[in-house]
Parts: sequence; C-alpha cells; structure tokens
Amino acid sequence: MRILVTGNMGYVGPVVVAHLRDRWPDAELIGYDSGFFAQCLTSPGAFPERILNEQVFGDVRDFPASLLEGVDAVVHLAALSNDPIGVRFETQTDSINYAASLAIAAAAAQAGVKSFIFASSCSIYGFAEGGPRKEEDPLNPLTAYARSKIATEQALSKLNAPDMVVTCLRFATACGYSPRLRLDLVLNDFVATALSTGEIKVLSDGTPWRPLIDVHDMARAIEWALTRDAANGGQFLAINAGRDDHNHRVSDLANAVAEKIPGTRISINENAPPDRRSYQVDFRRFSEIAPDHQPVMSLSQSIDRLIDGLTEAKNASREVIPADTKRLAILENHMNAGRISADVRWLN
Ligand SMILES: NC(=O)c1ccc[n+]([C@@H]2O[C@H](COP(=O)([O-])OP(=O)(O)OC[C@H]3O[C@@H](n4cnc5c(N)ncnc54)[C@H](O)[C@@H]3O)[C@@H](O)[C@H]2O)c1
Repeated sequence: MRILVTGNMGYVGPVVVAHLRDRWPDAELIGYDSGFFAQCLTSPGAFPERILNEQVFGDVRDFPASLLEGVDAVVHLAALSNDPIGVRFETQTDSINYAASLAIAAAAAQAGVKSFIFASSCSIYGFAEGGPRKEEDPLNPLTAYARSKIATEQALSKLNAPDMVVTCLRFATACGYSPRLRLDLVLNDFVATALSTGEIKVLSDGTPWRPLIDVHDMARAIEWALTRDAANGGQFLAINAGRDDHNHRVSDLANAVAEKIPGTRISINENAPPDRRSYQVDFRRFSEIAPDHQPVMSLSQSIDRLIDGLTEAKNASREVIPADTKRLAILENHMNAGRISADVRWLN
C-alpha cells in the first residue's frame, strides 16, 4: 500500500505517520508538507519523518499531480489550522484549506486513488445550544477556518469520483502529546502552563463545552477511514470523530489537570463575556460504524502523556517555548524575519 500524507510535519501528522508505520510496516509512506513548523520539535528523539519512505517539501497550492502515481490513499492534513490564523490570514485559509484541498482530491480521483481522507473539524458546529450536535444538524461556522472546512466537505461531496471513497473526519478538538506539540489547544495549554507557572488561567467562566480527542485516537480514526469501503457509510461520508463521554466543560479540564499536578491554582474569569465557541457533539454514528476504532485514550491518560512528554523535553534541555508551539506566533515570526511572504509562501 502506498499512502500519501499531506501536512505530516505538524502536530497531528507525526503521530499519524507513526501509527500507520506500526499498523502497516511494509507500506510506502510519503509525506508532503511546506515545513512551516518543521523546527518546532518538542521531543528530544529523532526526526519523526525518518520512518517515511520519502519526504517531499512543497506547498499544497502547487501540488504536483505526479506525486499521486501509484498512490492508494491520501490522508489530507495540510491546512492553516486554527481560528486565530484564519482571522489573520483569511484569504490564505480559503486558498490553502479549501481550494487546494479540492484540487488535490480531484487530482487523486483522476489518478485512481482509492481512498481520500479529509481532516475536518467539529468547530463547524460553532456555538451550539440544545444538546450534542449530530452530522445532519445545522452548521454554525464562526470563523474562516470553520468555513473552509465546510466548503471543502461540500465540494468533496459533489466531486465526480465514483471509484474513490471519501471520508471527512470531523475531529473534536485535538489534545495529547506529539513530537511537534501545539500549546494553542486547550488541554495542552493547561498542562504546560500548570507545569511551568503553577497556575491555569481559564479565560472564560469555565462553562463552555469542548469535545476532545487525543492525537493517538485521531490516528486510529484515520486508520479506520483508510480501510473503509463504500458499503460501510457510503462513497462519501462526513462523520464526527470522537466519543460521547469526551465532551467536557473547560472548568472540568482545568480541574482534571490540577488534580494531576499538585499545587496548581486555577483562576476562572467569572466576568468573562460568554464564549461563543461552545458545543457538544454526538459521536453515536462513529461508534456504530467504526466499533473497533473508538477512542481509547482517557482524559487522565492524555494528561499523563503530556506531563511525561513535557518533563522529558525539559530534562533533555529542550524546554518547550510558548512561541514555538503556537501556530500563529510561528507564522508571524517567519513573516517578520522575511522568511515567508504575505501570501504565506516561503521566500527563500
Ligand atoms: N489540532 C486540532 O485540534 C484539530 C482538530 C480538528 C481537525 N484538525 C485538522 O487536522 C489537520 C492537522 O492539524 P494539526 O493540528 O496537525 O495542524 P498543524 O498546523 O500542526 O499542521 C498542519 C501542517 O500543514 C502544513 N501546511 C500548512 N499550510 C500548508 C501549505 N500551504 N502547503 C503545504 N503544507 C502546509 C504545515 O506546515 C503543518 O505541518 C488540519 O487539517 C486541521 O485542520 C485539527
């Protein structure tokens, strides 16, 4: 099996690639990434890319269709991936996350790729009151990032690709340890700040809901999507990926972290304006259709792995620096240093 993984050099990608290598030791694994966050390694170990057969550097907006020759499956992770980046780089979020994704999917169908997996997001539900959101419930995108995910899903659903099984995994908010850790994610941020400052500052009043999924379980969901055939869910499928009992309130996340790191103080902003991003998600469809690939990491295990990984990094003098772990700050550093253009492309 030959699998192309785009965006493999971010937070989720290294965990996905390691999982695929473990699951299919003889697979040919190819990575395609611009490398915007290549330097953001938090693990003292070797480069995660060493287990690929090939790493290709490039921009998804210039994707060479020749890379798809002989490819059986595409795992498409490459994206400008979060809400603040979408505010700062709105047009680029559209061209990278939507237009380039669609072009790659169309080229994949043309090249005879059998399976296309798109990393979508539960953020498309936005502020959602009245219980957990199901796949067919109304969407409420609040950001350019969420709009780009919806536009891509809709375009993929209309793609003329009768021989390609397309799966859009609407992932819950990611959490957990990765060799390229991100701290602009709620649980990761809480663990890192509790360890480094002894305090968790909850910016909201703590009541908003966030569904979580550990990166390890995202990799297992991708494995499932790779092996899915059209009889199981249809030729095109958009599905919530997570677990019903992993819908948490932000204050519960802070308390769970504080329990693991003795002495941690929690400050809740009781006067905060209501957080517009609050939603619970219904993952029943995923549990019915992918019973053997349900999330297995508990909140407690995700926190333990984060604590262990961050402690190991510190002991190896690879202290995790906030500016190296927040996606928007990294892109702005590249831009201020003249390394990337206003269009988010490498200059040299
Ligand atoms: N992290 C989450 O909470 C979460 C939740 C749901 C869905 N997702 C989706 O999963 C995927 C992976 O997320 P992540 O957290 O690893 O993001 P990330 O920002 O850590 O990694 C994204 C990768 O895409 C690459 N990339 C960005 N623009 C590119 C371009 N123009 N050309 C080529 N490569 C480019 C980056 O270099 C990076 O390696 C994304 O599509 C994201 O939207 C993430």
